[in-house]
Amino acid sequence: MQTGEMALLPRHIELLAERIEARTGLSFPGARRRDLMIGLRDMAEAAGFERAEQCIEWLLEESWDRSRTELCARCLTNGETYFFREPRAFSLVCEHARKKLADADGAQARLRIWSAGCSTGEEAFSIAMALRQEAPELDPRHIFILGTDIDGRKLEVAQRGIYRQWSFRGKRGTLHSGWFQDAGENRLRVDRSITDMVRFAELNLMDPVYPSPDTGTQEMDIIFCRNVLMYFSQRQARLVIERFRRCLVDGGWLVVSPGEASAELFTGFSARHFPDAIYFQKATEQTDVVTQEPARPPEPIRAVRPTHADNAPPAVRQQHSSALRDATTTPTTGEVAAHARRLASEGKVREAVRYLDHSIEHNPTGVELHHARGLIAMESGNYREALQSLKRMIYLRPDLTIAHFLLGVLFLARNRPREAVRHFEAASEMLEGVRGDEIVPGSDGLPAATLRDSVRAYLDRGRK
Ligand SMILES: C[S@@+](CC[C@H](N)C(=O)[O-])C[C@H]1O[C@@H](n2cnc3c(N)ncnc32)[C@H](O)[C@@H]1O
Repeated sequence: MQTGEMALLPRHIELLAERIEARTGLSFPGARRRDLMIGLRDMAEAAGFERAEQCIEWLLEESWDRSRTELCARCLTNGETYFFREPRAFSLVCEHARKKLADADGAQARLRIWSAGCSTGEEAFSIAMALRQEAPELDPRHIFILGTDIDGRKLEVAQRGIYRQWSFRGKRGTLHSGWFQDAGENRLRVDRSITDMVRFAELNLMDPVYPSPDTGTQEMDIIFCRNVLMYFSQRQARLVIERFRRCLVDGGWLVVSPGEASAELFTGFSARHFPDAIYFQKATEQTDVVTQEPARPPEPIRAVRPTHADNAPPAVRQQHSSALRDATTTPTTGEVAAHARRLASEGKVREAVRYLDHSIEHNPTGVELHHARGLIAMESGNYREALQSLKRMIYLRPDLTIAHFLLGVLFLARNRPREAVRHFEAASEMLEGVRGDEIVPGSDGLPAATLRDSVRAYLDRGRK
């Protein structure tokens, strides 16, 4: 390709960065500007220019067409992905599917899921596999999974459905062998029963083509957009999130990665935090939030007494008997906490909070109770109460990595990066030397390696 020569000035790079951001969402501030310069060299080579300056000149020309977007997609995006990455998110899909099955007549239940920025397809296929495994009653013909990406080349790999070892990152042994067939040369092909559930299509998230039946992006139950918005400017991320909100049914979920969950971007959603995933639920008029309740003053730490269902108010006692198989057994603090989390996830937030507060009165040193109380308050956006519970948790168990992690997330959400970094650093130190597959205490089964990744991502954000 040939163009005239121009003297390259810093303002040309500035203009180009703005242009690329407007067209693709991708942003290159600060240290990331170096990535843009490296990408430009690749772009020049890929497009057949002799020099990067010529490529810049071409990109700065009046018109912007598909070939320019394609070149950016090919040389400036990161396609890192693998099967069952950040696994908690797949549990959400299955939980949601089971809820749909219970609500609707099982045979009628339908589910629509979108993996936006799906790269080479591992995420979309993982969703299909999780559903086949965990919600087998759901008729696969009633499940629609859409995988989209700006980069057509990555989608070609997805369409083929053949993967090398690297796409499994050590998880291969744990995956159901029925989902894959040997494709030779140490590669695996995704089985037809899974590929039939997924449709792939090219879609640039900066194009106003969603929600729309044309792109199949309307009426979504769940949208995955993980490890995509972290490369976008806040302005473009906000636009995309608002469009996603319109694509979702009431009560639908948007799943992002922990490092992407800047609370102020997600207006119209309520958050549910986990160490390896954050889900944002599209708010409805009826959403039961604790935020409106007055914050309670801190309670003194009192002597330990067992939590017993008989001490609970009648409504709570009834929940106990249905939740716990043997009503005569005193529930452990873990069981109480789990039951409260379940209530909250069903939207019965006030009930869950009342239940926990009552239990805490009788067992003020029950760390799991404060943990559950903190998580529920966080999910409801009641940061003051969440802070109180998590601080109490650390007071009782200063060695609890998960408490430092959650407190860090909370401080970051409150725009207090200094305090956030302090807690992430503490969590990071505690994770040093811990084996990657060891489960982090109090984390609902999260391996240390996953938490370590999340802590690292958050530390980067806090230190920016
Ligand atoms: C790091 S991968 C994430 C893959 C997968 N979601 C995961 O978390 O494993 C980011 C993907 O976002 C895509 N992407 C970047 N900008 C995009 C845009 N404007 N529209 C759609 N996809 C985009 C990239 O092509 C890349 O495949």
